[in-house]
Amino acid sequence: MKRDLLSINDLTEKDIALILQKTKILKKMRKSNRKLNQLQDKTLALIFFKPSTRTRISFEVAMYELGGNVTYLSGDEIQISRGEPCADTAKVLSRYVHGIVIRTFSHSEVLELAQNSTIPVINGLTDLEHPCQILADLFTIYERHKKLDGLKIAFIGDGNNVANSWLLAAPKVNANFVLACPRGYEPDSGIVSSAIKEAKRKGVHIEVINDPKLAAKSADVIYTDVWISMGQEKDAKAKKSQFNRFQVNKNLLALAKPECMIMHCLPAHRGEEITADVIDGKNSVVWEQAENRLHVEKTILSLLLK
Ligand code: CP
Ligand code: NVA
Repeated sequence: MKRDLLSINDLTEKDIALILQKTKILKKMRKSNRKLNQLQDKTLALIFFKPSTRTRISFEVAMYELGGNVTYLSGDEIQISRGEPCADTAKVLSRYVHGIVIRTFSHSEVLELAQNSTIPVINGLTDLEHPCQILADLFTIYERHKKLDGLKIAFIGDGNNVANSWLLAAPKVNANFVLACPRGYEPDSGIVSSAIKEAKRKGVHIEVINDPKLAAKSADVIYTDVWISMGQEKDAKAKKSQFNRFQVNKNLLALAKPECMIMHCLPAHRGEEITADVIDGKNSVVWEQAENRLHVEKTILSLLLK
């Protein structure tokens, strides 16, 4: 049976542990130039209704390095943009290619695509979730600490798609997760309550608060993301004015553990959600984090498209 990756909730604790182990091997293999041909004769379609640097390129290169091919479909150049249903697109693509990565606005469109395709569908970011990013984040932290359980992750900023996926992931890896955002910018309420419930069951701490200093205190990781996500450009001015207190800067970093990892899924806006000295400073792991997208995408493709 085909498997999709639409949400972090599509993965069990065991799946995540397997992804971390396999990614470690694939990263090592690439560093020693060892080739893989596991996806020879397979083609991946990439449907993007929003811009992308990391997600698009990491999936393309991952596919090439696994011996496969890709076809990139810009959202406005396919018939969905003229009203063809996602369901029909799914049925057609299932007869041409072996997997789909889609980046779009509405999460329900991705669900519709997945329900109507006979091939795996991977969420390359929706307004609700960004699961592939969080898998690379988990791997980046795991590489440093050799574990995830018991760590404190502080997410400072908007309760957006990245935050939602982090909320679902943290209890699965037994990590503590505290998110600080301005009032009114909390993550999806259904996701927050299910994450808190799951955290209680696992004996870890998950909290959404409005105090960035409290969140950053003794953190092992400080994570941030843009204040204005793709598609929210019209609200930019009003929104930015409410986020000033939520900037990741050296004062906030000083409250965390000395070796605290600074993470950002990128693209970053220096001077907004994070200062240049912090993102380009010694605690930052953002380039390793971005590189790890490639290794994790390879793992995802090799597990789903086999
Ligand atoms: N982090 C991330 O998904 O980056 P892109 O928007 O460049 O794909
Ligand atoms: N929250 C951001 C993530 C970009 C990778 C957005 O949706 O634009």
